[in-house]
Amino acid sequence: MNDVFLRAARGEATEYTPVWFMRQAGRYQPEYRKIRERYTLPEIVRHPEVTAEVTLMPVQNFGFDAAILFADITTPLYGMGFELDIVEGKGPVIHNPVSTADDVGRIREFDPGESTPFVLEAIRILKGELPVPLIGFSGAPFTLASYLVEGGPSKNFVKVKSLMYSRPAAWQELMEKLTTAMANYMRSQVEAGADALQVFDSWVGRLTRYDYETYVAPYMRRLFAELAGLGVPVIHFGTQTMHLLTSMAAAGGDVMGVDTATPLDWARDRLGARPVQGNLDPTLLFAPADVLERGVEAVLSANAGRPGHVFNLGHGVLPGTPTAAVARAVELVHEKSAVKP
Ligand code: CP3
Repeated sequence: MNDVFLRAARGEATEYTPVWFMRQAGRYQPEYRKIRERYTLPEIVRHPEVTAEVTLMPVQNFGFDAAILFADITTPLYGMGFELDIVEGKGPVIHNPVSTADDVGRIREFDPGESTPFVLEAIRILKGELPVPLIGFSGAPFTLASYLVEGGPSKNFVKVKSLMYSRPAAWQELMEKLTTAMANYMRSQVEAGADALQVFDSWVGRLTRYDYETYVAPYMRRLFAELAGLGVPVIHFGTQTMHLLTSMAAAGGDVMGVDTATPLDWARDRLGARPVQGNLDPTLLFAPADVLERGVEAVLSANAGRPGHVFNLGHGVLPGTPTAAVARAVELVHEKSAVKP
């Protein structure tokens, strides 16, 4: 197996910089859109052989150094008693959102073997087929809570922050339940064969540092402490998190995700030897070839040859991204980072 991604994630110097993209398996690929004509996203996830095919596709087409399991952060929520849909162009919509302490009390304990056996089966299939490591993942408690309390995507996070500020007991129970569930979910993925994990705290950057430390960090510390025993590298990712980066790093994770707005050299200067992942602007994949090339070079030169860099976007691949640009970006990372003998 090509293990350059795993070595970089452990902070080792590598012969070139490994690269994968968040949302690398999605809608920008014509083969994926074809499959979506026949299956909805939750249906793909419930068919392990289709999940495996979709997960493998970008690795075969573009030469990525890691695969990310095809699922969604909402996948485990059905097993906790939530009814939801994923609405195209919008995101997850929860039909029975959490608003009271009673709603929190009704959230069911999550059993991965019972609720997401198809995810574990997909991982087992992939382990026999993938030439690169497989990254399992889950949403982080705050990001999941934001969907569960808001009922869907949110701009200002008023409902979730109101619960957080004004109902401390309900907030604590909600965060504890989500932390336990996601620790169990990710442990089951590693037991099925996942080689690494990524925790997506996509919306946590909308909190102040004080609120992060007060209302979120205690649960993140427990989550990462539970994952640390699994023996696989864990990536800790959020967006708009420049102000939180050192607090998030203190909570845990072997590799820190760096978003597009955070200069990579600034992040590395503050994180010491901690490996980082990032942070090409996803919209550069829509730019002319020479502009994309300069963008890739800028990320590599911000890293300045320090070991422990996993190349990625600052956030996921956007719908409509030209596949040729994805192929070119992977090639550029490999070429320009290669250590010349
Ligand atoms: O390729 C991969 O990265 C693996 C699969 C993956 C998906 N979602 C599949 C998906 C991963 C890792 C996710 C994580 C996810 N889902 C996050 C965290 C990452 C991030 O972007 O910050 C979040 C916040 C979600 C919630 C979610 N699911 C959103 C906001 C959307 C977009 C809705 C839309 O239509 O614009 C989804 C749907 C989704 N998840 C799609 C895919 C491929 C696209 C919809 C489809 O194919 O029907």
